[in-house]
Amino acid sequence: MADPKLVQDIVEALDIPGGSTEKRPVHTVGVGVTGHFMPSPVAKDFCVAEHFQPPTNPEGVAVDVRFSNGMGVVAEHDGWSDVRGMAVRFHLKNGKSTDLVAMTLPVFFAPTPKKFLKFALAARPKPCQRETAWQKIKDYLRLELPMPDPYQGQTERPNEEAIAFANKHVWAQPAVIDASSIGAPVSYVRAAYHAVHTFVVTGKEEETRWVRFTWAPIAGVLNTNPLEPPKDKFLKQDMIDRLADDRTERFSLVMHIGEEGDDFNDSTRQWPPHRKRVMMGTLTLKHVPEDQEAHSEKLSFNPWHLTPGIEPSGDPILDIRRDVYEYSSNRRGGIPCPFSGAKG
Ligand code: HEM
Repeated sequence: MADPKLVQDIVEALDIPGGSTEKRPVHTVGVGVTGHFMPSPVAKDFCVAEHFQPPTNPEGVAVDVRFSNGMGVVAEHDGWSDVRGMAVRFHLKNGKSTDLVAMTLPVFFAPTPKKFLKFALAARPKPCQRETAWQKIKDYLRLELPMPDPYQGQTERPNEEAIAFANKHVWAQPAVIDASSIGAPVSYVRAAYHAVHTFVVTGKEEETRWVRFTWAPIAGVLNTNPLEPPKDKFLKQDMIDRLADDRTERFSLVMHIGEEGDDFNDSTRQWPPHRKRVMMGTLTLKHVPEDQEAHSEKLSFNPWHLTPGIEPSGDPILDIRRDVYEYSSNRRGGIPCPFSGAKG
């Protein structure tokens, strides 16, 4: 069990103006979608977890998915550059389930909870303004990229403070650099999402592997043109339109297999790109339920909500997320997350 004071301090450090304690302090705006997951023929060899076994149902395992904008504000700034989230709940037999929570950054901002608290307190949104042409030229002469122009209606952003922090803390640099230039996808189904942490999976011969998961969009990755940002609200409607008339959208679940020397317990560090990858299955999105209160707002995912065959690694950030998400869900009145009993 994590230090409750640290858990509370972390959640409160995420609260920003424009947010609400009755909603998630990050990933506040989102859309819930239903569908199913079909494991690939090889998935069962690599992981004994139930959702990777040949399904009894011809469609595979039912899933609830919530896509989200990373920002902790209730206004829908869909056209703004931001990290996006994809949280998936696989519904297993006998009312059980398991979660996989992912985002569009491949790495996290800090290697430990205390360092993350420092980062969250420093990288608060601050008033921002368009740099003058002269300032931009000066930036280039100093071999620095000018700050991007604020979007229409954007008066505050965390970028400047996050970059200043990363300049002094090398561990924050990969995530901050990625996040500052991430852009906005044309659709939630045109982005790749990473579960970031390492998990330990058990294969059919009882062998263990250290792995990281990514959802790869079958339609491919595509961002909006930053010079012509779209309207603020379009991502939910885009999902409704794409799934109308029985149409579907799909993602592949890719499992990267770690090797000796890779960082298993530090989610600020990426693995080399040539690690072996296994296609674990296909997720098909089918429907945007009308009851978004039940299928998005009140849902509570938790990266610790695991099932036999998948264990958490020793990553201290993954460790604290169990209690942070539980605290946050209780604070906003979410549906309590039914733990599989993996810890405590
Ligand atoms: C110490 C590190 C982290 C903290 C403190 C943190 C905090 C939070 C909190 C408080 C929530 C709202 C939970 C709720 O009320 O249900 C949340 C949601 C979320 N987080 Fe994190 N997070 C962390 C790391 C990560 C990482 C590494 C990822 C990606 C793998 C991630 C992806 C998400 C996503 C996608 C959601 C939205 C889930 C949903 O749709 O309900 N977070 N986070």
